[in-house]
Amino acid sequence: MNRRQILLGMGGALAAVALGTGAWRQATGTTSAYDDYSARLRAPLSPDIADVIRYATLAANGHNTQPWRFAASADAITITPDLSRRTAVVDPDDHHLFVSLGCAATNLAIAAAASGRPGEVIIDGATVRYTFTGGRRDDVDPLLAAIVRRQSTRGDYDGRQAAPGDLTALQVASAVAGVDLAIITAPTTIAAIRDLVIAGNSAQMRDAAFMQELKSWIRFNPRSAMASGDGLLAAASGNPSLPTALGGFAFDRLFDVSAENDRYARQIASSAGIAVFAAEQADPQHWIRVGQACQRFALEATRLGLKLAFINQPVEVAVLRPELARLIGTTRRPDLVLRFGYGPSLPFSPRRRIEDVLSS
Ligand SMILES: Cc1cc2nc3c(=O)[nH]c(=O)nc-3n(C[C@H](O)[C@H](O)[C@H](O)COP(=O)(O)O)c2cc1C
Repeated sequence: MNRRQILLGMGGALAAVALGTGAWRQATGTTSAYDDYSARLRAPLSPDIADVIRYATLAANGHNTQPWRFAASADAITITPDLSRRTAVVDPDDHHLFVSLGCAATNLAIAAAASGRPGEVIIDGATVRYTFTGGRRDDVDPLLAAIVRRQSTRGDYDGRQAAPGDLTALQVASAVAGVDLAIITAPTTIAAIRDLVIAGNSAQMRDAAFMQELKSWIRFNPRSAMASGDGLLAAASGNPSLPTALGGFAFDRLFDVSAENDRYARQIASSAGIAVFAAEQADPQHWIRVGQACQRFALEATRLGLKLAFINQPVEVAVLRPELARLIGTTRRPDLVLRFGYGPSLPFSPRRRIEDVLSS
């Protein structure tokens, strides 16, 4: 536990005594209700098209805003951006938003094929179209089972290295035209990237607009996560559940730059490696491709028993991008950074109801 968690934990314990257990449950929800909710979200795939869309929505996405809309017809499913769910401060050019659409496209294609709808993904500007090509496919993608198990795991890992064969499998699984993936395991390069993460985190935590936007997407307890179906559940980052008002107070008063930087340094040191994705061009079409590659990486990692977490500060804070590019030996704009390794699971993040992501 880091200092922040201890402080939050103490605050929670004091508040629980003050409120009484019943009122505490009322304010935060129960773990078992949230477990049931998560299990329903991750129920096995049926041939129903709504279920295919449910699988698509389990994809990684920035701040868990789920910035997408789906429309199904007789011959295709389309994904379009929901610009009302932009995160203008951390993502001013909608880079993360389009990456998120690409992540959903990967899940959609795997789930649609497994549901008996083989097809192909066509990226048309800012729209992704999965067109059914007809015919039958009897082989189920081995990544299908990982869709419901994948998560962003923002905890400490156990320091174990990944086998070279697994690193190759990750590289192969995430091959998408126009997207490069650098997998870094050299300690000196990892340390240099760690320093960029810390520099980026320091800059972001000193930016009031960034912190305000982040806070607006934090769900401090399972009850509020289930109510909104979106956002960053505190427990999914290893933090205790607090009533929303107390969580907001703790976020404003106790979130501490040096404690957070220490946590990032420790968590990166506990990881087996870092992956950096970089597309050949910086436009929505290529960012969608980055998302496709990243989600395939995440699913393959999950299949191999690896956990992963994004550490995107060096791509979100634009002045840090050139140094990150230099470290991985590219002239491209780096798109995404994540760490991977072995460690325990954390609670899953929420998702919105399917009817709320369907285009009307
Ligand atoms: C484009 C993109 C950027 C992200 N950036 C970060 C990040 O900087 N830090 C972080 O902890 N998670 C980041 N995430 C992970 C999301 O917060 C996460 O996918 C979302 O909360 C849903 O949770 P899940 O991945 O566990 O399903 C990012 C995800 C995407 C797709």
